[in-house]
Amino acid sequence: MSVTVKGCCTVRPMEPTWCGRVALSEWDQIGKVTHVPIIYFYRLPQNWLSQEHIIASTLKDSLSRVLVPFYPLAGRLHWTNKGRLELDCNASGIRFIEAESSSTLEHLTDFSASSEYHYLVPTVDYYSLPIHELPLLQVQLTKLKCGGICIGVTFSHAVADGPSAWHFICEWARLARGEPLQTVPFLDRKVLRAGEPPLVPLTKCQAHTEFDDPPLLLGQTDDSEEKKKETTMATIKISKTQVETLKKRANESWHRPRNGRGYTRYESVTGHIWRSACKARNHKENQPTMLTIPIDSRGRMEPPLPKGYFGNANLDTVACSLAGDLVSEPLGFAASRIREAIERVNDEYVRSGIEFLKNQEDLRRFHQDLHPEGREEEPFYGNPNLSVVSWLRLPLYGMDFGWGKEVYMSPATHDFDGDFVLLPDPDEDGSVLLCLGLQVLHIDAFTKHFYQDIA
Ligand code: COA
Repeated sequence: MSVTVKGCCTVRPMEPTWCGRVALSEWDQIGKVTHVPIIYFYRLPQNWLSQEHIIASTLKDSLSRVLVPFYPLAGRLHWTNKGRLELDCNASGIRFIEAESSSTLEHLTDFSASSEYHYLVPTVDYYSLPIHELPLLQVQLTKLKCGGICIGVTFSHAVADGPSAWHFICEWARLARGEPLQTVPFLDRKVLRAGEPPLVPLTKCQAHTEFDDPPLLLGQTDDSEEKKKETTMATIKISKTQVETLKKRANESWHRPRNGRGYTRYESVTGHIWRSACKARNHKENQPTMLTIPIDSRGRMEPPLPKGYFGNANLDTVACSLAGDLVSEPLGFAASRIREAIERVNDEYVRSGIEFLKNQEDLRRFHQDLHPEGREEEPFYGNPNLSVVSWLRLPLYGMDFGWGKEVYMSPATHDFDGDFVLLPDPDEDGSVLLCLGLQVLHIDAFTKHFYQDIA
């Protein structure tokens, strides 16, 4: 696929904004601290085909306006000490790229095209530029053949998690359509920072297994061999009937929840993914495996975080099991391990995690990605482990900037072993899409087990 860059500029907030350095919360500075890509595809209606030239200016103008309330996104990050980051709100602005491609919308919105999406999202090179020169948000508008366009955005995960990223995109689209801002972002990250005296005494901090090293494949002393293996991506569809079958099956087994609240779609489908991955990877019965569940703490805090909290309120919780138990027990067993891990996350758990991190001398061990001043050796969460991210409740669809809703939205690239994202089908027919990254060696077996075992 060929993409030609036609121009590039910086978009700054339209009005003066608060300037100064702010401390980030502990959750902002761990996990993924590089950029995360998202991509939207549009088919321009007839009246916009003749006004194509104003699409870029509409996007840039609305960006400039939305960056006033969301001014942290126009700032820059700085390393302070041993993997800790600070945010300089300095209105340096975001990067906006205009590009053209000879590909058509039909080709690119085909599920199998997802490996090509990285050409449609700005690349962020953490190795060539110091972190304080990298815009926290970058946008690429690509004009496609036959009346299609796509908008690729990439967000710094140290500044915004999934719910915050979509809060920003929704408000940006509203301003582009000429509507007013709906929810003002809540920018004070102190509500999720460690304080003095500690909110939870360190001695009382709960065990945070999510910070432990993930299990290795039996017989291996490190993950170097697994890391070398080629990975690939796929998107598969789970129909409404299949989702209902899994939910029913999980709730029918003797592992069904005792408190009356049945297993959800996420718990049932993720349990099935975990079992299918164990089968596809051909694990021995006594192989330990860990499932990472990113969880939104906004509504789990007491009181809940203020509406529009902008930052990272997401943290990981983990479920562990032996592969043999997952495969031999009914689906309800996997779902029960997942429920247990989710239920652990309450106000005290979140605050004790913050205290734990505050007391770490070096945060680099908790970074999930590579960059020169951060983690130097890539951590590996692949075989025998996996992570299933839920985008099931995020406002992903209907992103209308004035030329109608998108025809397709994608989380762009997820080319890592064991990286799964669940999202609702855009047709709102009750089905669910699963974007997945696995070793090439396992992907066919995964799909086979996944569908065969539902039937
Ligand atoms: N509309 C309708 N129903 C809703 C709802 C909404 N907005 N929110 C919750 N519900 C109901 C549904 O009945 C749902 O069950 P169902 O999916 O079987 O229909 C039930 O409440 C439970 O939903 P939820 O609380 O979301 O639990 P879950 O088991 O589906 O998901 C987590 C568990 C941990 C994934 C979820 O709580 C979470 O934190 N999600 C956020 C993940 C996130 O932020 N992702 C971005 C990462 S950067």
